[in-house]
Amino acid sequence: MKKILINFAHPAKSRSNINQALRKAVEGLEGVTINDLYANYPDFMIDVKSEQALCESHDIIIFQHPFYWYSTPAIMKEWLDLVLEHGWAYGSTGKALQNKLFFQAITTGGDASTYSKEGHNGFTLAEFTTPYQATAKLCNMIWLPPFAVTGIHQGLAQEKMQSHAEDYRRTIIALRDGFFDIEQAKLQPTLNSDINTMIRSL
Ligand SMILES: Cc1cc2nc3c(=O)[nH]c(=O)nc-3n(C[C@H](O)[C@H](O)[C@H](O)COP(=O)(O)O)c2cc1C
Repeated sequence: MKKILINFAHPAKSRSNINQALRKAVEGLEGVTINDLYANYPDFMIDVKSEQALCESHDIIIFQHPFYWYSTPAIMKEWLDLVLEHGWAYGSTGKALQNKLFFQAITTGGDASTYSKEGHNGFTLAEFTTPYQATAKLCNMIWLPPFAVTGIHQGLAQEKMQSHAEDYRRTIIALRDGFFDIEQAKLQPTLNSDINTMIRSL
């Protein structure tokens, strides 16, 4: 069984709908740790050693967050700047994250059609995540496309939100228990674009 660390960042949790729904769907699952960055570090004073130890003790690292200015909420950038130290995460002796899986679980206001060359935002979601792809590569991690929930601005019906939450839970369980098709997933625009193909039945 793989151990999964979810670094969760939402600066206004009380106003969150979708991130809270996704989080609730995986909270308490065996082998899954939720590391709420804004709750743990309201002053942004990130405990580097403790965060590094958390990474070391897990096999899969997920950044779950709303999409803010085509990127992450600020604390995630601070986390990267401080935690990914030379000699630990990268460099000739930096092997702590080697072969761990990494992906983002992103929720966006804009709908899927806006995230294309022709669409309002001009780039795909995968293109916006290239800095994370490059970071994962530098740290010898295995990068996967994001688990994405789009179109929050238009409002998601409760039913739709529950269905995304259930997909997230299935994805996490399949990754944890080794029946998620990692090679197939690498070829998809998002992890959940064709979820039934990605999750192998035992
Ligand atoms: C500061 C800020 C920046 C945002 N930037 C974007 C953005 O670049 N692209 C986008 O699609 N949505 C953007 N949004 C919308 C959020 O992504 C959306 O409200 C969020 O995913 C909803 O999740 P929640 O219900 O968990 O809060 C932004 C929202 C805020 C508050």
